[in-house]
Amino acid sequence: MTFENLQVDIEDRIALVRINRPKKLNALNRETIEELHQAFKALRNNEDAAVVILTGSGEKAFVAGADISEFSDYSVEEGKDLAAKGQERVFDYIANFPKPVIAAVNGFALGGGLELAMSTHFRVASDNAKLGLPETSLGVIPGYGGTQRLPQLVGKGRAMEMIMTAGMIDATTAKDYGLVNHVTTIEELLPLAQKLAGKILNNSMVAISSAIAAVNDNYKDGVNGFDTEIENFGTSFGTDDFKEGTQAFLNKRKANFK
Ligand code: COA
Repeated sequence: MTFENLQVDIEDRIALVRINRPKKLNALNRETIEELHQAFKALRNNEDAAVVILTGSGEKAFVAGADISEFSDYSVEEGKDLAAKGQERVFDYIANFPKPVIAAVNGFALGGGLELAMSTHFRVASDNAKLGLPETSLGVIPGYGGTQRLPQLVGKGRAMEMIMTAGMIDATTAKDYGLVNHVTTIEELLPLAQKLAGKILNNSMVAISSAIAAVNDNYKDGVNGFDTEIENFGTSFGTDDFKEGTQAFLNKRKANFK
């Protein structure tokens, strides 16, 4: 897979997607948004990739936001379209991705950058990371899911404060808030994400996909996540992975999932 603004490498069933516009602090322009969609669409069907790690190029930024230079003269309709298309093609697409997606936050994660990290299934950060939703300082509101996913992850009061002050929090505070799961040095960031991906790879990817869908249904209007859980739990019993996992346990051996 070759892209203008992304680098995608697959090794040991782990796909590493790097947003690669370091001179612009990896800001998400239109082209990068579309490339992210294309990259994830391709990874969805690529059997060599079971887990995805998403990070930014360089040591300064994960993503410093949507590209401000592109939307500064947008109309009301264009603004709506930007948010709607972006949410559908990238942010919701990643949130509902059937394979685990881990964000390795390697510096600034601001605006669309934090929204991108929040759309992944969980986050780890380097100790130089700074996270925030600065949109209100620009006279807009977060448009890539930030007003919904930030309160889900950190609680309403903290989210309100971050959105209203447009301030940044450091990695330690982000960990305190539950916004990132682990903090480490910049050198250890990818090894940590890879180690977590490796642990995931020991388990049934069929069961993991099913669990992602059930967890996500907790956050969907008009959908009862408990019903999804019952349905998906039942479906698990018909899978080869269930037979392999339970047989391996009963025979005191390590499961070997396809
Ligand atoms: N959109 C477009 N360009 C951006 C950008 C963004 N969101 N964030 C950074 N850049 C560009 C800068 O314009 C600059 O480009 P230039 O060298 O051609 O002038 C380059 O990236 C480096 O950024 P710079 O501001 O010089 O780095 P800094 O270390 O002084 O500051 C930040 C870093 C992150 C604090 C600062 O870049 C910033 O505030 N960015 C915008 C963050 C934001 O509001 N994001 C939400 C958008 S909705």
